[in-house]
Amino acid sequence: MKAAVLHRAGEPLTIENVDLDVPRPGEVEIRVLAAGVCHSDLHYINGDLNGRLPAVLGHEGAGVVERVGDGVTRVRPGDTVITLWRPRCGDCEFCTTGRPALCALGRTQAASGGLLDGTSRLSLDGEKIHHLMGVSCFAERCVVSERSVVSIGPDVPPEVAAITGCAVVTGAGAAINAMAGATGDGVVVIGAGGVGLSAVMGLRLVGAYPIVAVDTSDSKLEKARELGATHTVNASTQGLADELARISRRAFTWAVDAVGLPQTLSQAFDAVGTGGTVVALGLGRVGATVAVPINPLVQQEKRLIGSLYGSANTPVDIPKLLDLYRAGHLPLDQLLGERYALTDINDAYGALAAGATGRAVVMP
Ligand SMILES: NC(=O)c1ccc[n+]([C@@H]2O[C@H](COP(=O)([O-])OP(=O)(O)OC[C@H]3O[C@@H](n4cnc5c(N)ncnc54)[C@H](O)[C@@H]3O)[C@@H](O)[C@H]2O)c1
Ligand SMILES: [Zn+2]
Ligand SMILES: [Zn+2]
Repeated sequence: MKAAVLHRAGEPLTIENVDLDVPRPGEVEIRVLAAGVCHSDLHYINGDLNGRLPAVLGHEGAGVVERVGDGVTRVRPGDTVITLWRPRCGDCEFCTTGRPALCALGRTQAASGGLLDGTSRLSLDGEKIHHLMGVSCFAERCVVSERSVVSIGPDVPPEVAAITGCAVVTGAGAAINAMAGATGDGVVVIGAGGVGLSAVMGLRLVGAYPIVAVDTSDSKLEKARELGATHTVNASTQGLADELARISRRAFTWAVDAVGLPQTLSQAFDAVGTGGTVVALGLGRVGATVAVPINPLVQQEKRLIGSLYGSANTPVDIPKLLDLYRAGHLPLDQLLGERYALTDINDAYGALAAGATGRAVVMP
C-alpha cells in the first residue's frame, strides 16, 4: 500500500510502498478515507518533537474497518471509525475518572513506535518501520488497536470525521472541559489554525463572550470570525494589550495558547486578568520553556494549565461533538481547508507551514 514515510527529521515525507501486516488479536485494519494535516506531524517532520523513525505519519484519521483480529468486540467490519492517538486502558485512575488522554497506555505506545504490544505492523523492503502514536493514517490503510478507534455513524463526511479526531476534540474539548463554566467569560484564543479555530467554535457553543481570536494572518482571522470569534487582533500589526483593553472593559478570564511558542504563552499569561487561567494547547520544541512572572502569578492568582486531547473523554465526547455537528451547532464543514491526494502530502505540509487557512485533509 502507499504510505507517507518520514525517514529523518528535516527531510520531506516520501511516498513508499509499505507492507502492512494483518491485525493481531485486539487490532483492526482500516481503509483510510481521510486524514487531517495537523501541526503535530509537522513538529515531527521539522524535528521539534522526536519520534521513532522511520515512521508512517498521520494521526487524525477516519475510515472504514475492513477486518478485525481475534477477540475484537468494539467494532465490526464495515463500521466507520475515527482514530484516537491516545488509546485508553479503561482501568487506571485517569481512565476511570474520564481523563483517558492521561492514560499511560497511550504514552507507552507512542514511545514504542509500535502498537499496544510494542511491535509494528509496518515494514519497508523487509525492514520494520514505526507507527506514529499507534495510528499512521497517512496511508491507504492502517492497523491499529481496537482501543485506538471510536465508531461513528456512516453519515459524517470522512473529512469532517477525520478532523474531529484531533483538531476539533482538542480545541472544542478544551472549551467544554478545561474551560468548564466559560459562559459569559471573556476569552482570548491565540493561534487560529485547526486547533485554535476549534476552540473558537467550542467557545461560541458554550456562550463565552467576547471571544477574541489572535493570529498573524488576516485570512485566518477572517475564518475565525466566520466560526464565532467576536473580535480579532492581528498580532503582527496591532498591540495585543491595547486591543484587548479596547475590546472589553472587563478583564479576560481565559486565554488559550493554540500556537506553542514561548512568546505566545507569555502573551496568553499577560492577556488574562486577576483570577484568570491560561490553557496551553500548542506543543513546543522539545525542552522549550516559558518564563512566568512570579508576582502576578501569586498576587493575581493566575493559573497556567495544559490540556491534552481536549481534556476529553474521547470515546464519549467525540460522538457527542459529531451529534452537535449533525444538529448544526458546530459548523465543521467551514473549518475544512484544502483537500490533497496522499501523493501531494508535502504540498499539504508546505502550505500548513506557509499559513494556509482552514484544516487541510489528505484523501488517500
Ligand atoms: N494539546 C493537544 O492535545 C494538541 C492536539 C493537536 C495539536 N496540538 C498542537 O497545537 C498547535 C496548533 O496546532 P494546529 O494544527 O492548529 O496548527 P496550525 O499551524 O494550523 O495553527 C497554528 C496557528 O498559529 C498561528 N501563529 C503562529 N505564530 C503566531 C504568533 N506568534 N502569534 C499568533 N499566532 C501565531 C499561525 O498563523 C497558525 O494559524 C501545534 O503546536 C500542535 O502540535 C496540541
Ligand atoms: Zn493532531
Ligand atoms: Zn488508563
